[in-house]
Amino acid sequence: AQDMAADGEKVFRRCSACHEVGPDAQNKVGPQLNALIGRTAGSLDGYAYSTAMVEAGQGGLVWTEETLVPYLTKPRDSVPGTKMAFAGLRKPEEITAVIAYIVQAGGG
Ligand code: HEM
Repeated sequence: AQDMAADGEKVFRRCSACHEVGPDAQNKVGPQLNALIGRTAGSLDGYAYSTAMVEAGQGGLVWTEETLVPYLTKPRDSVPGTKMAFAGLRKPEEITAVIAYIVQAGGG
């Protein structure tokens, strides 16, 4: 899990233009990603989500390793109308690694 998180830290460079994770992480273009696993989509106070993301959460979308895979693969197919302007990660191993990094750096 350590090695995977180290690989994931490199992958996270592609997220870090918009996201922070870890101590003192703030919302930027995108919401901070601390304690992501178990978070209802679109639910962070103080961040202005798209209506699509808020409604996805109200519809029951909760971020888990399972739900993050399709979102990080094709964000706009997974949550149509999301304002996350990111094409997605193509390699499953990159997705596994970036999730491991977010969990390690952000406490879940
Ligand atoms: C939302 C992860 C790349 C901008 C989210 C959410 C996750 C996430 C899990 C939902 C959070 C929540 O519901 O509270 C990631 C990861 C990335 C990445 C792991 C890299 C692999 C990016 C990039 C941008 C971006 C590059 C900016 C160009 C946003 C925005 C939202 C968002 C604006 C809010 C979406 C909405 O309200 O529809 N991201 N993201 N993300 N992300 Fe990313």
